[in-house]
Amino acid sequence: MRRASAQANPNIALIKYWGKADEDLILPAAPSVSLTLDQYPTTTHIEPAAKDSFELNGRPASEKETARVSAFLDVVREWAGGHQPHAAVRSVNEAPTGAGLASSASGFAALALAAAHAYGLDLSPRDLSRLARRGSGSAARSIVSGVALWHAGTDADSFAEPIPAPEMRMVVVPLSKTRKKVSSREAMRISRETSPYYEAWVRTTRAMSEEMVEACAAGDFARIGALTESSAWRMHGLIASSAPVIRYLTPASVEVFDAVSQLREDGLAAYGTADAGANVVVLTTPDDAAAVATGLSEYGDVTVCGPGEGARLEPGARNE
Ligand code: PMV
Repeated sequence: MRRASAQANPNIALIKYWGKADEDLILPAAPSVSLTLDQYPTTTHIEPAAKDSFELNGRPASEKETARVSAFLDVVREWAGGHQPHAAVRSVNEAPTGAGLASSASGFAALALAAAHAYGLDLSPRDLSRLARRGSGSAARSIVSGVALWHAGTDADSFAEPIPAPEMRMVVVPLSKTRKKVSSREAMRISRETSPYYEAWVRTTRAMSEEMVEACAAGDFARIGALTESSAWRMHGLIASSAPVIRYLTPASVEVFDAVSQLREDGLAAYGTADAGANVVVLTTPDDAAAVATGLSEYGDVTVCGPGEGARLEPGARNE
Protein backbone atom coordinates (compact mmCIF):
# COMPACT_ATOMS: atom_id res chain seq x y z
CA MET A 1 0.00 0.00 0.00
CA ARG A 2 1.17 3.56 -0.76
CA ARG A 3 0.08 7.02 0.33
CA ALA A 4 -2.23 9.06 -1.93
CA SER A 5 -4.17 12.34 -2.01
CA ALA A 6 -7.22 13.17 -4.09
CA GLN A 7 -9.79 15.91 -4.48
CA ALA A 8 -13.43 15.94 -5.54
CA ASN A 9 -16.23 18.49 -5.60
CA PRO A 10 -19.88 18.24 -4.61
CA ASN A 11 -22.60 17.78 -7.19
CA ILE A 12 -26.15 19.08 -7.14
CA ALA A 13 -28.82 16.86 -8.64
CA LEU A 14 -31.10 18.23 -11.35
CA ILE A 15 -33.14 15.03 -11.11
CA LYS A 16 -32.90 13.80 -7.54
CA TYR A 17 -31.86 10.44 -6.13
CA TRP A 18 -34.03 9.42 -3.18
CA GLY A 19 -34.48 5.77 -2.32
CA LYS A 20 -32.44 2.61 -2.69
CA ALA A 21 -33.20 -0.67 -4.41
CA ASP A 22 -30.37 -2.29 -2.42
CA GLU A 23 -29.05 -0.80 0.82
CA ASP A 24 -25.78 -2.79 1.03
CA LEU A 25 -24.70 -2.21 -2.55
CA ILE A 26 -26.26 1.29 -2.61
CA LEU A 27 -28.20 0.74 -5.80
CA PRO A 28 -30.64 3.58 -6.48
CA ALA A 29 -34.30 2.85 -7.20
CA ALA A 30 -34.17 5.24 -10.19
CA PRO A 31 -31.56 7.05 -12.29
CA SER A 32 -30.59 10.66 -11.49
CA VAL A 33 -28.84 13.57 -13.22
CA SER A 34 -26.48 16.11 -11.63
CA LEU A 35 -24.02 18.94 -12.15
CA THR A 36 -20.60 18.69 -10.49
CA LEU A 37 -19.69 22.12 -9.13
CA ASP A 38 -16.37 23.95 -9.52
CA GLN A 39 -16.26 24.89 -5.79
CA TYR A 40 -16.29 23.47 -2.26
CA PRO A 41 -13.74 20.67 -2.84
CA THR A 42 -12.92 17.93 -0.37
CA THR A 43 -9.24 16.97 -0.22
CA THR A 44 -8.46 13.54 1.19
CA HIS A 45 -5.16 11.93 2.12
CA ILE A 46 -4.68 8.26 2.93
CA GLU A 47 -1.68 6.30 4.19
CA PRO A 48 -0.97 2.91 5.76
CA ALA A 49 -1.58 2.67 9.53
CA ALA A 50 -1.91 0.06 12.32
CA LYS A 51 -5.68 0.62 12.45
CA ASP A 52 -8.26 2.54 10.42
CA SER A 53 -8.72 6.14 11.56
CA PHE A 54 -10.49 9.19 10.13
CA GLU A 55 -9.75 12.84 10.76
CA LEU A 56 -12.19 15.44 9.39
CA ASN A 57 -11.27 19.13 9.17
CA GLY A 58 -8.34 18.66 11.55
CA ARG A 59 -10.24 16.75 14.26
CA PRO A 60 -10.83 13.04 14.90
CA ALA A 61 -14.21 12.18 13.35
CA SER A 62 -17.03 10.62 15.40
CA GLU A 63 -17.14 6.84 15.94
CA LYS A 64 -20.04 6.58 13.50
CA GLU A 65 -18.24 8.53 10.74
CA THR A 66 -15.05 6.55 11.31
CA ALA A 67 -16.96 3.24 11.12
CA ARG A 68 -18.50 4.36 7.81
CA VAL A 69 -15.08 5.21 6.36
CA SER A 70 -13.65 1.92 7.63
CA ALA A 71 -16.54 -0.06 6.09
CA PHE A 72 -15.87 1.71 2.78
CA LEU A 73 -12.14 0.88 3.03
CA ASP A 74 -13.17 -2.78 3.54
CA VAL A 75 -14.85 -2.62 0.11
CA VAL A 76 -11.70 -1.14 -1.45
CA ARG A 77 -9.53 -3.80 0.24
CA GLU A 78 -11.87 -6.53 -0.97
CA TRP A 79 -11.57 -5.16 -4.55
CA ALA A 80 -7.78 -5.17 -4.07
CA GLY A 81 -7.81 -8.89 -3.23
CA GLY A 82 -8.20 -8.78 0.57
CA HIS A 83 -5.53 -8.95 3.32
CA GLN A 84 -4.55 -5.33 2.88
CA PRO A 85 -3.27 -2.96 5.62
CA HIS A 86 -5.42 -0.53 7.58
CA ALA A 87 -5.23 3.16 6.78
CA ALA A 88 -5.27 6.63 8.30
CA VAL A 89 -7.57 8.98 6.35
CA ARG A 90 -7.50 12.77 6.67
CA SER A 91 -10.12 14.90 4.93
CA VAL A 92 -10.66 18.62 4.62
CA ASN A 93 -14.03 19.84 3.43
CA GLU A 94 -14.50 23.35 2.10
CA ALA A 95 -18.31 23.20 2.39
CA PRO A 96 -20.17 23.02 5.70
CA THR A 97 -20.49 19.29 6.47
CA GLY A 98 -23.95 17.79 6.73
CA ALA A 99 -25.93 20.89 5.71
CA GLY A 100 -27.25 19.66 2.38
CA LEU A 101 -24.30 20.82 0.30
CA ALA A 102 -23.43 17.25 -0.61
CA SER A 103 -20.20 16.93 1.38
CA SER A 104 -20.76 13.16 1.48
CA ALA A 105 -20.62 13.17 -2.33
CA SER A 106 -17.33 15.07 -2.57
CA GLY A 107 -16.01 13.20 0.48
CA PHE A 108 -16.56 9.66 -0.77
CA ALA A 109 -15.58 10.53 -4.36
CA ALA A 110 -12.22 11.89 -3.11
CA LEU A 111 -11.78 8.92 -0.76
CA ALA A 112 -12.64 6.42 -3.51
CA LEU A 113 -9.96 7.81 -5.81
CA ALA A 114 -7.32 8.23 -3.08
CA ALA A 115 -7.97 4.75 -1.64
CA ALA A 116 -8.08 3.06 -5.07
CA HIS A 117 -4.70 4.61 -5.87
CA ALA A 118 -3.29 3.76 -2.44
CA TYR A 119 -4.35 0.09 -2.62
CA GLY A 120 -3.03 -0.26 -6.17
CA LEU A 121 -6.35 -0.51 -8.03
CA ASP A 122 -6.21 0.85 -11.56
CA LEU A 123 -9.90 1.56 -12.18
CA SER A 124 -11.73 2.81 -15.26
CA PRO A 125 -13.90 5.92 -14.66
CA ARG A 126 -16.97 3.64 -14.59
CA ASP A 127 -15.51 1.35 -11.97
CA LEU A 128 -14.32 4.31 -9.91
CA SER A 129 -17.88 5.65 -9.98
CA ARG A 130 -19.21 2.20 -8.94
CA LEU A 131 -16.70 2.17 -6.06
CA ALA A 132 -17.59 5.72 -4.89
CA ARG A 133 -21.26 4.69 -4.95
CA ARG A 134 -20.54 2.19 -2.16
CA GLY A 135 -19.56 5.05 0.17
CA SER A 136 -22.50 7.37 -0.57
CA GLY A 137 -24.81 7.01 -3.54
CA SER A 138 -24.47 10.58 -4.76
CA ALA A 139 -20.64 10.23 -4.66
CA ALA A 140 -20.89 8.12 -7.84
CA ARG A 141 -21.75 11.37 -9.68
CA SER A 142 -18.89 13.46 -8.20
CA ILE A 143 -16.39 11.23 -10.03
CA VAL A 144 -17.69 12.81 -13.26
CA SER A 145 -16.96 16.33 -14.61
CA GLY A 146 -19.93 18.54 -15.50
CA VAL A 147 -23.35 16.97 -16.04
CA ALA A 148 -23.63 13.29 -15.04
CA LEU A 149 -26.26 10.60 -15.49
CA TRP A 150 -26.15 7.94 -12.76
CA HIS A 151 -27.71 4.73 -13.99
CA ALA A 152 -29.89 2.59 -11.76
CA GLY A 153 -29.43 -1.15 -12.26
CA THR A 154 -27.23 -3.89 -10.90
CA ASP A 155 -23.89 -3.53 -9.13
CA ALA A 156 -22.11 -3.93 -12.47
CA ASP A 157 -24.03 -1.25 -14.35
CA SER A 158 -24.95 1.34 -11.73
CA PHE A 159 -22.34 4.04 -12.42
CA ALA A 160 -22.40 7.70 -13.42
CA GLU A 161 -21.13 8.98 -16.76
CA PRO A 162 -20.91 12.39 -18.43
CA ILE A 163 -23.71 13.47 -20.77
CA PRO A 164 -23.79 16.37 -23.25
CA ALA A 165 -25.46 19.49 -21.84
CA PRO A 166 -25.48 23.26 -22.34
CA GLU A 167 -23.35 25.58 -20.17
CA MET A 168 -25.05 26.18 -16.84
CA ARG A 169 -24.45 28.04 -13.60
CA MET A 170 -25.69 27.38 -10.10
CA VAL A 171 -26.17 30.09 -7.50
CA VAL A 172 -25.82 28.61 -4.00
CA VAL A 173 -27.92 30.39 -1.37
CA PRO A 174 -26.61 29.17 2.02
CA LEU A 175 -29.27 29.33 4.70
CA SER A 176 -28.13 26.84 7.30
CA LYS A 177 -24.79 25.53 8.56
CA THR A 178 -26.33 23.16 11.07
CA ARG A 179 -26.18 19.42 10.71
CA LYS A 180 -29.43 17.85 9.55
CA LYS A 181 -31.42 15.96 12.20
CA VAL A 182 -32.19 12.91 10.04
CA SER A 183 -29.46 11.66 7.71
CA SER A 184 -30.41 11.19 4.07
CA ARG A 185 -29.60 7.48 4.41
CA GLU A 186 -32.13 7.08 7.24
CA ALA A 187 -34.73 9.41 5.71
CA MET A 188 -34.62 7.57 2.36
CA ARG A 189 -35.37 4.31 4.12
CA ILE A 190 -38.28 5.89 6.01
CA SER A 191 -39.70 7.31 2.74
CA ARG A 192 -39.49 3.92 1.03
CA GLU A 193 -41.06 2.08 3.95
CA THR A 194 -43.82 4.53 4.83
CA SER A 195 -44.75 6.97 2.05
CA PRO A 196 -47.83 6.04 0.01
CA TYR A 197 -46.28 8.07 -2.83
CA TYR A 198 -42.98 6.17 -3.03
CA GLU A 199 -43.83 4.03 -6.07
CA ALA A 200 -45.11 7.05 -7.99
CA TRP A 201 -41.89 8.90 -7.10
CA VAL A 202 -39.72 6.07 -8.47
CA ARG A 203 -41.82 5.71 -11.64
CA THR A 204 -41.86 9.43 -12.42
CA THR A 205 -38.16 9.89 -11.57
CA ARG A 206 -37.28 7.25 -14.16
CA ALA A 207 -39.29 9.15 -16.77
CA MET A 208 -37.94 12.54 -15.68
CA SER A 209 -34.33 11.34 -15.91
CA GLU A 210 -34.95 10.26 -19.50
CA GLU A 211 -36.58 13.59 -20.28
CA MET A 212 -33.68 15.44 -18.65
CA VAL A 213 -31.12 13.58 -20.78
CA GLU A 214 -33.10 14.61 -23.88
CA ALA A 215 -33.48 18.23 -22.75
CA CYS A 216 -29.73 18.43 -22.01
CA ALA A 217 -28.83 16.98 -25.42
CA ALA A 218 -31.18 19.49 -27.10
CA GLY A 219 -29.82 22.40 -25.03
CA ASP A 220 -33.40 23.22 -23.99
CA PHE A 221 -32.68 25.28 -20.88
CA ALA A 222 -36.30 26.10 -20.04
CA ARG A 223 -37.12 22.38 -20.02
CA ILE A 224 -34.00 21.55 -17.98
CA GLY A 225 -35.00 24.20 -15.43
CA ALA A 226 -38.64 23.18 -15.17
CA LEU A 227 -37.67 19.52 -14.67
CA THR A 228 -35.07 20.50 -12.06
CA GLU A 229 -37.49 22.49 -9.93
CA SER A 230 -40.21 19.87 -10.28
CA SER A 231 -37.90 17.01 -9.20
CA ALA A 232 -36.84 18.97 -6.10
CA TRP A 233 -40.43 19.64 -5.00
CA ARG A 234 -41.45 16.07 -5.70
CA MET A 235 -38.58 14.80 -3.54
CA HIS A 236 -39.40 17.17 -0.68
CA GLY A 237 -43.10 16.30 -1.06
CA LEU A 238 -42.23 12.61 -0.81
CA ILE A 239 -40.07 13.24 2.27
CA ALA A 240 -42.91 15.21 3.92
CA SER A 241 -45.33 12.37 3.16
CA SER A 242 -43.28 9.92 5.26
CA ALA A 243 -44.20 8.76 8.76
CA PRO A 244 -42.78 10.27 10.90
CA VAL A 245 -42.96 13.47 8.85
CA ILE A 246 -39.49 14.69 7.87
CA ARG A 247 -38.89 18.20 6.60
CA TYR A 248 -35.60 19.73 5.48
CA LEU A 249 -36.86 22.98 3.95
CA THR A 250 -37.38 25.90 6.31
CA PRO A 251 -39.59 28.99 5.90
CA ALA A 252 -36.43 30.78 4.65
CA SER A 253 -35.97 28.11 1.93
CA VAL A 254 -39.55 28.58 0.75
CA GLU A 255 -39.03 32.36 0.67
CA VAL A 256 -36.06 31.84 -1.66
CA PHE A 257 -38.13 29.57 -3.95
CA ASP A 258 -40.72 32.39 -4.11
CA ALA A 259 -38.00 34.92 -4.95
CA VAL A 260 -36.79 32.57 -7.71
CA SER A 261 -40.32 32.46 -9.23
CA GLN A 262 -40.35 36.26 -9.15
CA LEU A 263 -36.98 36.42 -10.95
CA ARG A 264 -38.48 34.14 -13.58
CA GLU A 265 -41.48 36.39 -13.97
CA ASP A 266 -39.01 39.24 -14.44
CA GLY A 267 -37.55 37.39 -17.41
CA LEU A 268 -34.49 35.66 -15.93
CA ALA A 269 -33.67 31.96 -16.30
CA ALA A 270 -33.86 30.82 -12.65
CA TYR A 271 -35.01 27.50 -11.22
CA GLY A 272 -34.65 26.39 -7.60
CA THR A 273 -33.58 23.08 -6.13
CA ALA A 274 -32.61 21.84 -2.65
CA ASP A 275 -31.07 18.66 -1.26
CA ALA A 276 -31.57 17.17 2.19
CA GLY A 277 -31.07 20.51 3.91
CA ALA A 278 -32.39 24.06 4.01
CA ASN A 279 -30.02 25.60 1.44
CA VAL A 280 -31.44 26.50 -1.94
CA VAL A 281 -29.42 26.22 -5.14
CA VAL A 282 -30.60 28.11 -8.20
CA LEU A 283 -29.96 26.82 -11.69
CA THR A 284 -29.39 29.54 -14.26
CA THR A 285 -27.58 30.36 -17.50
CA PRO A 286 -24.12 31.97 -17.80
CA ASP A 287 -25.83 35.12 -19.15
CA ASP A 288 -28.25 35.48 -16.23
CA ALA A 289 -26.01 34.25 -13.38
CA ALA A 290 -24.87 37.71 -12.19
CA ALA A 291 -28.42 39.13 -12.17
CA VAL A 292 -29.78 36.06 -10.36
CA ALA A 293 -27.00 36.31 -7.74
CA THR A 294 -27.77 40.01 -7.21
CA GLY A 295 -31.50 39.30 -6.99
CA LEU A 296 -30.93 36.71 -4.24
CA SER A 297 -28.15 38.44 -2.30
CA GLU A 298 -30.52 39.66 0.42
CA TYR A 299 -31.15 36.01 1.46
CA GLY A 300 -27.54 35.01 2.13
CA ASP A 301 -23.95 35.12 1.06
CA VAL A 302 -24.54 33.72 -2.43
CA THR A 303 -21.88 31.96 -4.54
CA VAL A 304 -22.03 31.47 -8.30
CA CYS A 305 -20.70 28.03 -9.32
CA GLY A 306 -19.96 26.66 -12.75
CA PRO A 307 -19.48 23.10 -13.92
CA GLY A 308 -16.48 21.54 -12.21
CA GLU A 309 -14.01 18.74 -12.67
CA GLY A 310 -14.65 15.22 -11.45
CA ALA A 311 -12.41 13.49 -8.90
CA ARG A 312 -8.68 13.87 -9.49
CA LEU A 313 -5.43 12.97 -7.76
CA GLU A 314 -4.29 16.07 -5.90
CA PRO A 315 -1.92 18.03 -8.12
CA GLY A 316 1.44 18.53 -6.47
CA ALA A 317 0.83 15.96 -3.71
CA ARG A 318 3.13 12.98 -3.39
CA ASN A 319 1.12 10.38 -5.27
CA GLU A 320 3.69 7.66 -5.76
O1 PMV B 1 -25.70 11.90 0.01
P1 PMV B 1 -26.46 10.66 -0.38
O2 PMV B 1 -25.65 9.84 -1.28
O3 PMV B 1 -27.02 9.92 0.78
O4 PMV B 1 -27.72 11.15 -1.22
C1 PMV B 1 -28.39 12.33 -0.98
C2 PMV B 1 -29.37 12.58 -2.07
C3 PMV B 1 -29.76 14.03 -2.29
O5 PMV B 1 -28.62 14.86 -2.17
C4 PMV B 1 -30.76 14.50 -1.27
C5 PMV B 1 -30.35 14.15 -3.70
C6 PMV B 1 -29.36 13.90 -4.78
O6 PMV B 1 -29.72 13.27 -5.78
O7 PMV B 1 -28.19 14.35 -4.65
